[in-house]
Amino acid sequence: MDKVIVAKDLSLSYSNNEVIINKVNFSIDSGSFVFITGASGSGKSTLLKSLFGALSFKHGSLVVGGVELNNISGKKLNFLRRHLGIVFQDYKLVREWSIDKNIMLPLLINGYMKNVANAQVDKLLKHVRLNHQSGKYPYELSGGEQQRVAMARALAHNPIIILADEPTGNLDEYSSQLIWNLLEGANNQLKTTVIVVTHNIPKNLNVTYRHLHIEYGSVHEIC
Ligand SMILES: Nc1ncnc2c1ncn2[C@@H]1O[C@H](COP(=O)(O)OP(=O)(O)OP(=O)(O)O)[C@@H](O)[C@H]1O
Ligand SMILES: [Mg+2]
Repeated sequence: MDKVIVAKDLSLSYSNNEVIINKVNFSIDSGSFVFITGASGSGKSTLLKSLFGALSFKHGSLVVGGVELNNISGKKLNFLRRHLGIVFQDYKLVREWSIDKNIMLPLLINGYMKNVANAQVDKLLKHVRLNHQSGKYPYELSGGEQQRVAMARALAHNPIIILADEPTGNLDEYSSQLIWNLLEGANNQLKTTVIVVTHNIPKNLNVTYRHLHIEYGSVHEIC
């Protein structure tokens, strides 16, 4: 099985040099579904950020999609990010753009023709049950609806890896189920590698998954 992520002796810290993740080793097979759990402040978002190159690190090695992220050039990082779908804990939708345009952005960056991109946006809005909100702006939507837009944007360009930070954190049962179905579908049908930070692993998931738990700066496999 191809390894889509390989971390060796990886340590992560912010500018204050406090060590958040301490010399961890793990690898993730292409096409797998991985949950990351841990207490608040344990370093889940920090680890996820490192996977899309949003955190520079001084120690160890991290290879994502065959690309070493230590000292990566901006150009290479942009290229890698085109193949990632990222759902942030605080959504990060572009406020000045309609939700349709937010979802369309990764498609345009990836060179989709305008009419194909439009059709894909319509399809995704239906998938996340927001077609009735088409044309609206993020601030006109509830938190849960914005979260669903963020998920649609992450999935839009069929990324090789989806990195999602508490994608159901603010959602009710109905919306959570929608999100899990989408992630499950991407993993089962498109063989997308899915990495999800969550406090609650859903019980009725139709995929085989791995569970990594962060505690005291280490990453443990929960079997
Ligand atoms: N930008 C930053 N600068 C300095 N320290 C930070 C920064 N972001 C996070 N931290 C620190 O890193 C540690 C881990 O934070 P992180 O956001 O990764 O936690 P988390 O596990 O995602 O928590 P939560 O479940 O609350 O989202 C915390 O102690 C936090 O204070
Ligand atoms: Mg977090």
